[in-house]
Amino acid sequence: MQQAATLVAPPPKARGVFNVETVTDVRHWTPSLFSFKTTRDPALRFASGQFVMLGLEVEGKPLLRAYSIASPAWADELEFYSIKVADGPLTSRLQKIVVGDELLVGRKPTGTLVLDGLRPGRNLYLVGTGTGLAPFLSLVREPEVYERFDNVIVTHTVREVADLNYREFLSHDLPNDPDLGELIAPKLIYYPTVTREPFVTQGRITDLIASGQLFVDIGLPPLDRARDRLMLCGGPSVLADLKTLLLERDYEEGSIANPGDFVLERAFVET
Ligand SMILES: Cc1cc2nc3c(=O)[nH]c(=O)nc-3n(C[C@H](O)[C@H](O)[C@H](O)COP(=O)(O)OP(=O)(O)OC[C@H]3O[C@@H](n4cnc5c(N)ncnc54)[C@H](O)[C@@H]3O)c2cc1C
Ligand SMILES: NC(=O)c1ccc[n+]([C@@H]2O[C@H](COP(=O)([O-])OP(=O)(O)OC[C@H]3O[C@@H](n4cnc5c(N)ncnc54)[C@H](OP(=O)(O)O)[C@@H]3O)[C@@H](O)[C@H]2O)c1
Repeated sequence: MQQAATLVAPPPKARGVFNVETVTDVRHWTPSLFSFKTTRDPALRFASGQFVMLGLEVEGKPLLRAYSIASPAWADELEFYSIKVADGPLTSRLQKIVVGDELLVGRKPTGTLVLDGLRPGRNLYLVGTGTGLAPFLSLVREPEVYERFDNVIVTHTVREVADLNYREFLSHDLPNDPDLGELIAPKLIYYPTVTREPFVTQGRITDLIASGQLFVDIGLPPLDRARDRLMLCGGPSVLADLKTLLLERDYEEGSIANPGDFVLERAFVET
């Protein structure tokens, strides 16, 4: 006699305080950048824009690093966008993962790049450099972002054109998405810039904001605290410079406890 079909999914795997997730997709964009997807424990809750501890078991011990979740809170899978640091303890190994491998994912996502850290406004600027794009890949797929703001501007600044990953997704796939495209297309503006090679929009985002060129290019008025909100994610130096630029314009940094005009999160820590 045939066995009755199992009606419930097998229980999620856990190791210590981490969930064990299975890699379902890996994409190598350049020799130094890749992205991957994993299964998601249905009990894992997070807000779009947050980060989580992620890693591998190495010699019986967990080796974890902070990673922004690049997928939106509503998705069934988790997505991550990663640097490959040749001698990095984690990414020298992580870059070798293949579909079917197991990863450790923390159970307590956290972070400041969440909608609730911002006061209401008209325009939301999501300013990312390098892998600092990751949390914004989550937020741009979050319907609430478009319910709260009239325009959502994603800026991505990288050294070389080849580092402009997710360009097709942001400029074409997302605005044409069968479910979300109608909501997103009229509001999403994607503004890629490159600093070390010729490109149609060239230069550091700090300079493009300070000179006003960004606003000329996208057809919106220069930053105004009464109307414009920002989320920033990048290396320590770009965050410091952007913060100075905003504080000079009387912008106030926000948090969930005390919402403000901008919030920021480091995309990596300098060692
Ligand atoms: C809140 C937070 C969120 C993060 N989210 C991401 C993410 O979504 N994707 C991601 O790739 N990394 C992210 N990082 C960085 C990540 O935690 C690790 O540093 C990275 O995975 C490298 O790990 P490692 O052990 O190989 O090298 P580490 O010893 O951790 O780093 C070695 C050096 O490599 C450089 N470096 C590390 N990460 C990056 C990076 N992302 N971009 C450029 N240079 C880097 C720095 O100079 C660092 O000192 C995040 C860090 C923080 C604090
Ligand atoms: N992306 C890569 O090609 C790559 C590959 C392998 C390893 N790495 C290593 O990873 C680390 C970080 O590389 P990354 O390129 O991802 O990040 P990054 O050095 O932070 O650069 C990302 C972008 O941010 C810009 N930027 C940096 N500091 C800024 C500031 N103070 N104000 C405004 N803009 C600023 C850079 O412009 P500028 O070009 O003008 O600095 C670049 O366009 C480095 O140690 C690097 O050697 C990078």
